[in-house]
Amino acid sequence: MSRSIIIGTGSALPERVLTNFDLEKMVDTSDEWITTRTGIKTRRIAGPGENTSNLASLAARKALAMAGLTPADLDLIIVGTITPDMTMPSCACLVQKELGAAKAFAFDLNAACSGFLFGLDVADKYLCANPAMKILVIGAETLSSRVDWQDRNTCVLFGDGAGACVVTGSDADRGVLASRLFADGSLWELLHLEAAPSQNPELRRPGQEGAAIRMAGREVFKNAVRAMADAIQQVLTQEGVAVDRVRLVIPHQANIRILKSLADHLSLPLEKIYVNVDKYGNTSAATIPIAIDEANRAGRLREGDLLLLCSFGGGFTWGATLIRW
Ligand code: ACO
Repeated sequence: MSRSIIIGTGSALPERVLTNFDLEKMVDTSDEWITTRTGIKTRRIAGPGENTSNLASLAARKALAMAGLTPADLDLIIVGTITPDMTMPSCACLVQKELGAAKAFAFDLNAACSGFLFGLDVADKYLCANPAMKILVIGAETLSSRVDWQDRNTCVLFGDGAGACVVTGSDADRGVLASRLFADGSLWELLHLEAAPSQNPELRRPGQEGAAIRMAGREVFKNAVRAMADAIQQVLTQEGVAVDRVRLVIPHQANIRILKSLADHLSLPLEKIYVNVDKYGNTSAATIPIAIDEANRAGRLREGDLLLLCSFGGGFTWGATLIRW
């Protein structure tokens, strides 16, 4: 039986680092508050020439190099993002142009912070039909363009970046084992961003109602932990896998307290939960592929290991995926 395996990973982060101490000068906050409430110390902020599509393309090139493929080998490009350079064309089409991946069709997918996981699931379904396909799944965001830099409730949380995975079919006994995705649109108001994106600065008006991310933090927190733990239980039950057999959990990186609560819910030591939210903050759809790439390049993923991915984001959307690496 063919399964979808990840054969290359890559990530790209903007040059500029914004620290909690920098934020102290911008809003009424402190390094102590941000660190204890969120675990975030720094985040990356995109500068000129670092649009979502540029970061996505950089990450993609690294993933392709690891996979030993060229852009011409690609059949499909999926980009999970809520901050495409523009509403039309899709970020995925800009990546396709940037890479010169002439054979690939390309589209964006909006599932907020769950964008990468949803994209991986779509890729998995295409690969069920045609295992020979080479699919690039990317999570990429420049959230700094959609944050209200005067709202201390949100501006301390987010960062920019991109991660990419090349996925194809394999008869080896590994790859995506199970995936469960969920949505609940009835709770949309708890976390939303109304305005359409634009790379035209004149059309980006941060003071404009609806142009920045708005969030009911406590409600999001409670829902995130409950939903991710439940999705994880469902994929583990489906595959008959005990949680202690999982080598590493890579959750969406939003807040260290969410990750600790998740570890408690799963009765897993925190060492089994991958954490890099301290360095990059919440990069929405990009957190999981950036973390996969980091863990992969650091040698934390060995062939045959069980890897769990889980996410939660605006929509609400959430899910979990179990992979034998
Ligand atoms: N600096 C200092 N004080 C602040 C800041 C800040 N940056 N932000 C809020 N406060 C204040 C509030 O004004 C409030 O003051 P008050 O008591 O005088 O009214 C106080 O701190 C407590 O505010 P709460 O919102 O209740 O603080 P809480 O402990 O819930 O932490 C946080 C807030 C960090 C947002 C938390 O709710 C959280 O992490 N929620 C998850 C949301 C999240 O991560 N969203 C990302 C997108 S969704 C996702 O990716 C899963």
